Amino acid sequence: MKIAIVGTGYVGLVSGTCFAEWGNRVVCVDKDVGKIAQLRQGKMPIYEPGLEKLVVRNQAAGRLSFTTSLAEAMRGVDIVFIAVGTPPRPGHGDADLSFIYTAAKEIAYSLEGNAVVAVKSTVPVGTGDAVKKIIATVRPNGSFSVASNPEFLREGSAIDDFLFPDRVVIGVEDENARKAMLALYRPLAEANTPVVVGQRRSAELIKYASNAFLATKITFINELADLCEHVGTDVGELALGMGLDHRIGKAFLNAGPGYGGSCFPKDTLALLRTAQDHGVALRIVEETVAANEARKRKMALKVLDAVGGDVDGLTISVLGLTFKPDTDDMRDAPSVPLIETLQRFGAKIRAHDPVGMENAARVVENVALFNDPYECARDADAVVIVTEWESIRQLDLHRLKQVMRSANLIDLRNAFGRGVAQAAGFQVSSIGQPV
Ligand code: UGA
Repeated sequence: MKIAIVGTGYVGLVSGTCFAEWGNRVVCVDKDVGKIAQLRQGKMPIYEPGLEKLVVRNQAAGRLSFTTSLAEAMRGVDIVFIAVGTPPRPGHGDADLSFIYTAAKEIAYSLEGNAVVAVKSTVPVGTGDAVKKIIATVRPNGSFSVASNPEFLREGSAIDDFLFPDRVVIGVEDENARKAMLALYRPLAEANTPVVVGQRRSAELIKYASNAFLATKITFINELADLCEHVGTDVGELALGMGLDHRIGKAFLNAGPGYGGSCFPKDTLALLRTAQDHGVALRIVEETVAANEARKRKMALKVLDAVGGDVDGLTISVLGLTFKPDTDDMRDAPSVPLIETLQRFGAKIRAHDPVGMENAARVVENVALFNDPYECARDADAVVIVTEWESIRQLDLHRLKQVMRSANLIDLRNAFGRGVAQAAGFQVSSIGQPV
């Protein structure tokens, strides 16, 4: 099939590349001239394991190309995906749809035949209707369809999530869109991946509800972790014992410093906004948002407690800055409020991240950044593990302790076994384990 992808950000680039991998002809469009030039040379604008190899391979095979011209990309297209950003509107919490509406208008001017316009961006219920209206205004007699096809990609494992998903969700209102979307996803259907085809509005809501549910699951185990610390049990054992019940499931029961990233914080707020607009109370999601925010702030107090109540004048070494491993994304990363709070209490911060330091330098101030984690820990009064990168898990704790001033380890991801760290001579403060 011939596919166009409007918006070559994280979602658009990964989706377009994977569609090409299945043998489709894909043209990715973006207004950012620099980004398109870079991509043509096989240089990635984001850090995503495995992406560069696939982009280079599919570009060389002539299945994947990049352009700044939407009109060019739209020629003879079967499906055009809208994959532009929907950032939160400052001060409102709902999604800013202006990029979606602009894309819809521009697509309308170059639309040919029975093309399907599929919205991949995360958008509130009813956005597909609005997109349809915009296109119909420009093309009153056009025979086009609008579909919803949300993505469930996790940063850091996006390629695998795309090529081997748990399910595909498609929302359509007519047979033309249904046929085209099913034809596109045939490789997955043939591999026995469930393909859920429903109403367009259902597909839009499934995306938000899924993210809100996962955010709630994380928040649940985080709160239980607090209880574990007080009743002398281990949240790891609790999560295992609960998670083996397949109705609960093991995934997303890792207690930590609170969820971050570009999706859960934004999507939970946008879902609440939609609910408010319709006079519906989503109390569990409201509490999840509030509890997660409070948790991120509370993590600094854990550091204070671990060093005896006061960090004024102390040097704290933070290992791991991105919101999770295998990404350079710093959006809503728990490391940021932690660092800012510790600085307000008078701590000097040294920090290390294997990939995210360039982005981190833009969001945190007065932090000394180190490529080498051991150098980062030099003369520190405490080391705080905020992101569980594999390279951080593999650190030699004896070597780490040797360069530090005091052997305090605050492990917000339980990246090291408590016993192992204690055996290396550390005073350990972890999550959801007896104090
Ligand atoms: C999330 C969803 O998992 C994807 O399905 C969805 O497509 C994506 O949002 C999106 O809407 O685009 P992502 O934000 O990349 O993906 O990352 P996750 O792996 O879900 O992690 C989110 C946050 O939760 C991270 O801060 C992570 O550290 C935290 N987390 C996750 C935990 O604290 N504990 C867990 O057990 C799992």
